[in-house]
Amino acid sequence: MKRVVITVALAACTHPKDPVAELEDPSTCMQCHPKHYTQWSGSMHAYASDDPVFVAMHKRGQRETAGALGTFCVQCHAPMAVALGIVDANNAASFDPTTLPPTARGVTCYFCHDAEKTIADHNNGLVLALDQTMRGGASNPPPADTPAHNSAFSDFTAGTLKNDGSMCGSCHDVVTPSPPSPMAVALERTFEEWKTTFFATLHDAQHHLSCANCHMVASKDLIAQGPGLNVVPRDNGFHDHFFPGIDQALTAWPQTDAMTAEVAGILDPAVNITGATPLTGPPIPGGICLQPLNGNEITVRIDSQSLGHLFPSGAAQDRRAWLEVIAYDASNNVLFSSGVVPDGMDPEDITDPNLLGLWDTIFKADNSPALFFWEVDHETSNLLKAPLFPGMDHSSNPSYIVGAIANQIDHITARILVRPLNFKLLHALEQSGDLDPSVETQMKTLVTGTGGAPFRTWSRANFEPSTGCCKAGFPSC
Ligand code: HEC
Ligand code: HEC
Ligand code: HEC
Ligand code: HEC
Ligand code: HEC
Repeated sequence: MKRVVITVALAACTHPKDPVAELEDPSTCMQCHPKHYTQWSGSMHAYASDDPVFVAMHKRGQRETAGALGTFCVQCHAPMAVALGIVDANNAASFDPTTLPPTARGVTCYFCHDAEKTIADHNNGLVLALDQTMRGGASNPPPADTPAHNSAFSDFTAGTLKNDGSMCGSCHDVVTPSPPSPMAVALERTFEEWKTTFFATLHDAQHHLSCANCHMVASKDLIAQGPGLNVVPRDNGFHDHFFPGIDQALTAWPQTDAMTAEVAGILDPAVNITGATPLTGPPIPGGICLQPLNGNEITVRIDSQSLGHLFPSGAAQDRRAWLEVIAYDASNNVLFSSGVVPDGMDPEDITDPNLLGLWDTIFKADNSPALFFWEVDHETSNLLKAPLFPGMDHSSNPSYIVGAIANQIDHITARILVRPLNFKLLHALEQSGDLDPSVETQMKTLVTGTGGAPFRTWSRANFEPSTGCCKAGFPSC
């Protein structure tokens, strides 16, 4: 009897585990981690090499640079395709990302969980161990044994105080290659931005927040399910794998409704029209104010809260975020407006000297506008700031001189609008035949800053003459 037990125990310890080739396929992970799989399958990481705008831009980029882009784009959007040698410098120009097998499509489970270190802080400097060990943050109790893989706790992967952000950050900073770009430009800088905030510079439990701490909400749940698996739920043991931001799938894709809710859930509290918020207590009124004493101006206060970098971040050259402000008289006639952008038009193309637009603008060497990575020579940037130290007021405070009509203003509405992509970029890809025009119709204009309401609203009925802002107790403005 005793012998049998020993044999079984030995068998469990020495089980050869699944071959690497099987672990590379996300559907292997699905068998025991169905909730991680379902969430990830709707994420932009799963979508990264099927994304029609990526596919179109990649195709055009290869054509326009005569293949000089090589594996530059694929190394981040389908990193396993490069690691497995499916795509290399010789075939990168001609391959179609949508034909990749599941093992190499998008940013896979295996890629993130087998990565052990970085050798560069941008352009995907992650190094894989190419072993059968999945790295994570499961502890207390330590991960149960599984016949599929070894498990290892790693500060590189887990959101611990020692996590330096490089596991996510190395892919989230893009420096354009030169050539084909005229100049090496730090085009996407989410990691660089994060490194300047106190979430990165203060290393205590109260302040330190790495990418995963904010982007992967933790809950008590089973992290593996299946027959014979001896697992128990852990406090904060399960981490969401939706990775919401701004982008959503523009073609038929799993989990689209869930992603829509996730994006609203992270965006809405993050970019807000609000008065300053003291450490304790509700915000001080001051999101929208009308200040007759200061030369008849409307002021709006935009605060990015719970953001660990600038806004928009990353692909800010493609994004368009802007503030819409409309002042009405008592009969609902518009007296003043800024940022009213018709559907199908980019905010920079309306005639509006007051427009507050938040994005990066990229230029070619001759100062004409650029649209694509491989054309960029230099850029200008107007984004919401991030906190460098706790308590720092990093709000943006646009003001609009309205003059004598201030007396007639009865109510003012404001909201922030966000488009993942600008129309110039989409139209250029359509015109070159690289993008199906139906994709554009799926793009949503997101609303934020309003606490879930259609607008923030200031009204004369709730007006506090001494400040020009709403009376206390009217959080709507
Ligand atoms: C046969 C079932 C099974 C398969 C298949 C499987 N896992 Fe696991 N995995 C487990 C079990 C069991 C645990 C431990 C769970 C616990 O103790 O709560 C685990 C733990 C983990 C952990 C935590 C490791 C740590 O130390 O923090 C990660 C990460 C992980 N798995 C990733 C994956 C990935 C990625 C795949 C696909 C390549 C995969 N797993 C396939 C059963 C499986
Ligand atoms: C292999 C490179 C790579 C790694 C590693 C990586 N990402 Fe990403 N990530 C991408 C790419 C590529 C996209 C965009 C895909 C698309 O939209 O086509 C993306 C998209 C995202 C988005 C969605 C952005 C939006 O605007 O919708 C978030 C959020 C995100 N990643 C967070 C993370 C976090 C957190 C980590 C670390 C746990 C991480 N990423 C690690 C490459 C990577
Ligand atoms: C962009 C990188 C990335 C991708 C892709 C990714 N994960 Fe994770 N995963 C993480 C990180 C980071 C953690 C650790 C979070 C922590 O502990 O703070 C994690 C944690 C886990 C864990 C441990 C339990 C938990 O929730 O913390 C499991 C299991 C897991 N992932 C499975 C998967 C599976 C299965 C897939 C694919 C279907 C996948 N992951 C895709 C980054 C990723
Ligand atoms: C303090 C919390 C916090 C930290 C730390 C943080 N983020 Fe974010 N991040 C957010 C919030 C909130 C948003 C939501 C705004 C939105 O929906 O775009 C966001 C948005 C994003 C986006 C989409 C941005 C865009 O405009 O396209 C990406 C990509 C991203 N984060 C990646 C990262 C990476 C990579 C890191 C680490 C280097 C990181 N984040 C650290 C809170 C955080
Ligand atoms: C260093 C890794 C990296 C490289 C290299 C890279 N990307 Fe990305 N890409 C990302 C990340 C990360 C995001 C998500 C950024 C965000 O949400 O702010 C992204 C987002 C995108 C998106 C979706 C959002 C948008 O702006 O439309 C497209 C399309 C895209 N990339 C195309 C490309 C093309 C084409 C190339 C090559 C010319 C390329 N990328 C090279 C990491 C990379």
